[in-house]
Formats: sequence, structure tokens, C-alpha cells
Amino acid sequence: MKTSRPPAILPVLLLSFLSTLLYYRFLNQRLYVQHHPHRNISILLWHWPFRHSYRLDGDRCQKMYNISGCFLSDKASTLSTADVVVFHHQELSTGLSSLPLHLDRPASQRWVWLSMEPPVNNRNLTQFNGLFNWTMSYRRDADISIPYGKTLPGGDDPNFQAALNRSCLVSWVVSRYQPHQARAAVYQSLKKHIPIEVYGMWNKKPLSNRKLLPTVSKCLFYLSFENSIAKDYISEKLWRNAFQAGVVPVVLGPSRATYEEMAPPHSFIHVSDFSNTADLAVYLKHLAANRQAYEKYFLWRHTHRIKTYTDWRERLCQICVRYHTLPAEKVYQDLEGWVNS
Ligand SMILES: *[C@@H]1O[C@H](CO)[C@@H](O)[C@H](O)[C@H]1NC(C)=O
Ligand SMILES: *[C@@H]1O[C@H](CO)[C@@H](O)[C@H](O)[C@H]1NC(C)=O
Ligand SMILES: *[C@@H]1O[C@H](CO)[C@@H](O)[C@H](O)[C@H]1NC(C)=O
Ligand SMILES: *[C@@H]1O[C@H](CO)[C@@H](O)[C@H](O)[C@H]1NC(C)=O
Repeated sequence: MKTSRPPAILPVLLLSFLSTLLYYRFLNQRLYVQHHPHRNISILLWHWPFRHSYRLDGDRCQKMYNISGCFLSDKASTLSTADVVVFHHQELSTGLSSLPLHLDRPASQRWVWLSMEPPVNNRNLTQFNGLFNWTMSYRRDADISIPYGKTLPGGDDPNFQAALNRSCLVSWVVSRYQPHQARAAVYQSLKKHIPIEVYGMWNKKPLSNRKLLPTVSKCLFYLSFENSIAKDYISEKLWRNAFQAGVVPVVLGPSRATYEEMAPPHSFIHVSDFSNTADLAVYLKHLAANRQAYEKYFLWRHTHRIKTYTDWRERLCQICVRYHTLPAEKVYQDLEGWVNS
């Protein structure tokens, strides 16, 4: 009888050994994921926003932005292996591009809805309910928030020098002027009190990208008027056209509180601070005549600097930076509701 015992205990030992081994393997994998959060992530851009494409070959995120393990592609053939697929709304909404709904979608693949436009320009949304996992927009409550620009600590940018020889008071660049927009009403009223130099398609004085900043920087102020008043919508009209030109922006857009949270301290003049455009005009003329008061709007440059995002590739690479902190399980059942909220 005794001789039959060892063979009986052997499978038990073997099983417990194996399960211990498996358990440690499992633990290790968990630890691996926790300690190596930057495993490679592949991102597929389904179509280029506004049909302007850039090169994605090689390790772009590493080379251009020092973000490692992040690979971008615009090749539809990578659909079945991509971790994230990004769809820019404009082309989907007009039918220039469409979602690959007829193809298998890997269970772990996330679809991202991308738009840098305010709600009024995001049409035809209802058809996309229940399809996207993450949103990507300038909004601070988007899963992947990619503002047009942001304020960072650390000032005295050696590359910045404000031109101090200004030959005009205010300028404005506007291409798609529409009389019903809030900015049109403010402009029409403000120009009765002060001269405003208007450039852009609307005034038949188009400015090339290269000429924009040098032209704008000849004036003391710039009208950073958003075409649409929407939550968090502060576009390149502030970050680039005004701040990069070294001009004091007069802003029309979200609330003063929003600008205070996003822009550097004492860096802008908000239209809503004045009960009418006559008072705003008086204040601008006061600053023009009082250099010390005017230059206070540049003090932030000693303590803060701004960063602008213009290249779609940098925005895409940002997905990898945030990837491991993004909601694991999420579906936008009411995308339209979110966009308009
Ligand atoms: C690139 O990123 C690494 C890791 O985040 C960092 O240690 C290094 O200083 C960065 N290099 C540059 C040039 O920013
Ligand atoms: C909405 O979709 C329809 C049909 O796909 C299209 O004809 C129309 O142009 C779209 N509207 C906008 C504003 O994109
Ligand atoms: C300032 O601008 C005016 C007009 O554009 C020009 O005549 C003058 O030479 C400039 N002064 C300096 C110091 O650059
Ligand atoms: C992503 O969205 C799809 C479509 O609604 C859904 O089936 C899937 O479960 C979502 N994935 C995750 C990880 O939340």
C-alpha cells in the first residue's frame, strides 16, 4: 500500500507548483504593466483634418516631441492592429470620409472623436452616438484636451522681443465675417469710436501666414474675437495672433473667468469688462497714451510663457502621453449632447 502513495501526491505537487508559477507570472504581468506604462501605442489617423497631410514615417513623436513608444499612421491597413483610431469630425460629417463600421473592431481598440471647432461647426452629430470611446478637443473636459495654446511657468523667453514702435492702435484679421456673429456687432460699434485696421479676406486685404505676425505687431492692440462664443473656445486668435505677435489682446469669447484660468495673468482686456464699446475705446486710448499702464500687460512675460499647438502630429502624440490615465471603459452614447453641453 505504501508504495502507491508517492504516485498519488505527485500530480497534486505538480498542480500546486504550476498554479504558483502561473500566479507569479500573472503578478509579474501586472507589475510589468504598472512599471512600464509606456509600452508602444499605435495610433491611426483615419483621414487628415481639412485634407492637409504631413509625414508620419519613422518615430515622429520621439524625434519631434521627445515622446517615446508612440507610433502614428495614416494607413487604413493598420486598422486591425491600432490601439487608437482618430476620426476628425469635419470629413465624417460632410461624407468625405466614413467610419469603417463594416469591418471588425478589436475589443480593446478605442475610437476618438476629434474636433477643434466650436459646437456650431460640428454638424450631423447624432449619427455618431454610441460609437466613440474618447473625445479630443480644445475643451478642458475632453478626454484628450488639446487647447490651441497654454500658459506655462517660466518667463523671459529669449526669443521674444516686443516691437515697441507701434504705428497704429488696433488691428483685426477676419476672413469669414458674418453679420449675425457677436464679434461683428462689437466691431461695428467699436469702430465708431476708434480706428481699426482690418485685414483678411473679408476686407479684401488677405495676409499670408508669414506676414500676419509682423503686420499685427505694428499695432498696440489686437482684436482676438472668436467667431463663436463657446465653453473653453479660445483659438489661435489669442495664442498666436496676439501673444506671439507681442500685442495686447482685446478678447471676445468665453467668460473672463475662463480666460483667467487659461491665459497668463494680466495679459488681456475682456470686452465684457466694459458696459459699452465707448468705454472700451476710452480705455484703449488711455493705455495708448500711458506707456507704463500699457506695459503692465507684458509683465507676465517675466514669470510665464505660452506654448501653442499647431501641428496635428503633436496633438496626436499627446494621446500616448495621456493613454494610461484615460477612462478604460467609456462610450459616448450621446455625443451631440456632450458637444453642446
Ligand atoms: C526627453 O525625455 C526624457 C524622458 O522623459 C527626458 O529625461 C529628457 O530630458 C528629454 N529630453 C529632452 C531633450 O527634452
Ligand atoms: C450632413 O450630412 C448630409 C448627408 O450625409 C450632407 O449632405 C450634409 O452636407 C451634412 N451637413 C454638414 C453641415 O456637414
Ligand atoms: C517707427 O516707425 C515709424 C513709422 O513706421 C518710422 O518712421 C520710424 O523710423 C520708426 N522708428 C524706429 C525707432 O524704429
Ligand atoms: C468603445 O466603444 C465601442 C462602441 O460603442 C464599445 O463597443 C466598446 O466597448 C468601447 N470600448 C471600451 C474599452 O470602452
